[in-house]
Amino acid sequence: MSDGGGWRDRVRAALRPLDPYHVPPLPAAVKLDANESPYSPPAAFLDALAEEVRGVALHRYPDPRASRLRAAIAADLGQPEERLVLGNGSDELIGLLASTFAEPRLGEREARMVYPGPSFVVYRTAAAAAGMEVCEAPLGPRFEADYDALAETLARARPSLVFVATPNNPTGTEWPRAAIERLVLEHPDVVIIVDEAYAAYSRTSFLDLVDRAENCAVMRTYSKIGLAGLRVGVLVAQPALAREVEKVRPPYNLGTLPQLAAELAIRRFSGELTRHVDEVVAERERLCAAFATLPGVEWFPTSANLVLIRVAEAHRVFAGLASRGVLVRNLSRPGPLAGCLRVTVGTPDENDRFLTALRAVLAS
Ligand SMILES: Cc1ncc(COP(=O)(O)O)c(C=O)c1O
Repeated sequence: MSDGGGWRDRVRAALRPLDPYHVPPLPAAVKLDANESPYSPPAAFLDALAEEVRGVALHRYPDPRASRLRAAIAADLGQPEERLVLGNGSDELIGLLASTFAEPRLGEREARMVYPGPSFVVYRTAAAAAGMEVCEAPLGPRFEADYDALAETLARARPSLVFVATPNNPTGTEWPRAAIERLVLEHPDVVIIVDEAYAAYSRTSFLDLVDRAENCAVMRTYSKIGLAGLRVGVLVAQPALAREVEKVRPPYNLGTLPQLAAELAIRRFSGELTRHVDEVVAERERLCAAFATLPGVEWFPTSANLVLIRVAEAHRVFAGLASRGVLVRNLSRPGPLAGCLRVTVGTPDENDRFLTALRAVLAS
């Protein structure tokens, strides 16, 4: 029996107005648009990996528990193995969390997700796919953390699931410890995910909160520190919460080669990865100092490997940079991000080329 309409009416209503994630394929000599590390892993790592790949049984499924990688990550984070849920990037974990914690509260039709925004777009798409309603809590006028606005949104929306990215993408905002502690401890009936995708660049972490609160989980990724191509993310939670998320994790979500490569990198080359992070932090400070001297550029304090700036005529500036071989992310649209471009911190040479191009575009 048909109730009319076509297959399009079967698409979740919340998904219909959204666009698929799309990065315009612009050729760029200087790629500062995706918050990756500008440094590839060391040659010695690639040599060791090539050696190990020879012994891999690619006709077999991967280890569904990713046991060796799990042990390496557990040691890296100083966490027991049973607290970890591994994801194909933290993107996948966000989707799994939304699927797991999409239960509406008693007497309500829809479950809700809250996050301080503007923030990472995948929260919204994961919510839409899981049938959750999104309530964005506003950041301050200069994208600073606003605990009162977040607490007020929680009181109004009564969400099932909250994400707080600290540092945040695309704003670089870092949340104070007292705010996150209060959020977690005062809302024991809400699942609160602290997304630490950029924690290496802020050198702060809320992993200790997982010991103290069963409703709190911390999410990390190896993407931002030099291993984006491997797609390895991890959720750290007490075993009871981790077990619920494990129920929806596809059993073979991490391929054999990413498991092998990430284990090798974490066990044997983490010193190099950390050195690269230190270089990016130093370059971030240099970039911000340069922005401070550029009339017509407003920049926002950041603790990540990215800087959000606001300029007049953002679309023209974006296109002018692209025509000079420098790709940044154009986030300008009506609302709080009007006029905003996001710049990933690159190598010293890349940052120089970006600054030269920016000065030329602003002067033209
Ligand atoms: C705040 C935040 N969380 C999670 C991710 C996802 O990272 P990945 O899927 O590469 O682990 C990103 C990537 O940009 C991000 O900005």
